[in-house]
Amino acid sequence: MPADRTTKLVSMRFGNEAAKTITGYEAAGGYSSLRKALAMRPDDITAEVKASNLRGRGGAGFATGVKWGFVPKDAKQVHLVCNADESEPGTCKDRELIYWDPHLLIEGMIVSAHALRATHNYIYIRGEMMREYAVLKKAVDEAYQRGYLGKNILGTGLEIHLTVHRGAGAYICGEETALLNSLEGLRGQPRLKPPFPAVKGLFGNPTIVNNVETLMNVPFIVERGGAWFAELGMGRSGGTRMLCVSGHVEKPGVFELPIGITFRQLIDEVCGGVWKGRKVKAVIPGGVSMPPLDDSELDVPIEFDALQTDERIKPVMVTPTQQFDLGGGRALRTMAGSGGVVVLDDQCDIPKAVWRIMKFFAHESCGQCTPCREGTGWLEKVARRVAEGRGKPNDVDLLAQIAHGIAGNTICALGDAAAWPMLGFLTKYRAEFEAAVNRAKVVAA
Ligand SMILES: Cc1cc2nc3c(=O)[nH]c(=O)nc-3n(C[C@H](O)[C@H](O)[C@H](O)COP(=O)(O)O)c2cc1C
Ligand code: SF4
Repeated sequence: MPADRTTKLVSMRFGNEAAKTITGYEAAGGYSSLRKALAMRPDDITAEVKASNLRGRGGAGFATGVKWGFVPKDAKQVHLVCNADESEPGTCKDRELIYWDPHLLIEGMIVSAHALRATHNYIYIRGEMMREYAVLKKAVDEAYQRGYLGKNILGTGLEIHLTVHRGAGAYICGEETALLNSLEGLRGQPRLKPPFPAVKGLFGNPTIVNNVETLMNVPFIVERGGAWFAELGMGRSGGTRMLCVSGHVEKPGVFELPIGITFRQLIDEVCGGVWKGRKVKAVIPGGVSMPPLDDSELDVPIEFDALQTDERIKPVMVTPTQQFDLGGGRALRTMAGSGGVVVLDDQCDIPKAVWRIMKFFAHESCGQCTPCREGTGWLEKVARRVAEGRGKPNDVDLLAQIAHGIAGNTICALGDAAAWPMLGFLTKYRAEFEAAVNRAKVVAA
């Protein structure tokens, strides 16, 4: 049966302080999925995850079971790394998930580590999340004491370890290969791919990197079956989705919702509408890396494939006549990303908002490749002068040209993350950028 708005999986224990302790979690049925998983063959767990249509909640929406299947069968040492670096502006679900249900994450990691035959595993948590780190560390210690982690877990002879590692506040360390470098004690800069981490990752060993929410869904899949989980969702996306809504709505927050909910339903029915009785000007659908939607595009389900292909969403343009080509004849529309929905009302100054976003990317670029290092800096500089009323006559085209020069030409996706929203905002709000430049001309005259 598809999920409805009362269906809660990963957020089912939100608000329940007792469930944060191991006794409270066990009393609520916790670690029963682990017991079931330990009686299963690892490949059978992976098969259930494949059948579940679980897709990664870290941003790209890659099929989790398929990714797990890339680990070479003869690997001597495999690692599972949980990406809890959550730094994408607009996204704040992993923080809540860890805070309210640390044992669900630990259980998800142990079950997944068993499926992957991974003995030494890590949670890489964003450095600023002090409160969540303390909660998680205590829970991991409890899990060791109870025999869920260690050398001979629950008397099965299986060895599974879990180390919690704190990051130091760099957005780029959320990119999986930069994260692995950082874990190894190196500078947190992305690696060239291939090889992908599933083949050669942490310390040169096959490594699966998964997001917090992704891993927290695994115990439910083992407990109730992949088919059940797939049915909760829509299309090729199983389960529910954590959405973080911020910006100009009456009731912002973090919500677990059916995957098929539309942006309009989310804003009007879950978040009490746009604040102060205003209207929507733009919606950033999944963290600021994603191209925005305008008010006419909000009746689309917040589902990975729909946001990329639904024809109600206008394609992103490079120039007013040329679409941005993702390859294979596909035009870029937008993506569901990491679930961070930012609503901008009809009084929002779009060039100013875009400048703020570009400032973030220019600051966070690791500087390793030229198009991103230089390009994000130029985007910030030009966007700033447009926003501040100092724009030059061809600045709007210049912004598009710079963004186009970055997209697809960098080592990691941070370059795209800066270029895509810039192209998206220019496509849908070009008139506002031009008006800002024209205002500058009037002042100069
Ligand atoms: C610049 C950048 C930052 C990222 N930050 C995060 C992050 O904070 N958390 C996360 O889970 N994934 C982040 N990702 C995506 C990861 O590289 C990776 O795809 C993800 O952790 C895989 O997990 P999943 O398959 O469960 O989604 C980021 C990617 C890029 C390019
Ligand atoms: S795209 Fe940017 S963040 Fe990524 S490796 Fe290149 S310079 Fe670093």
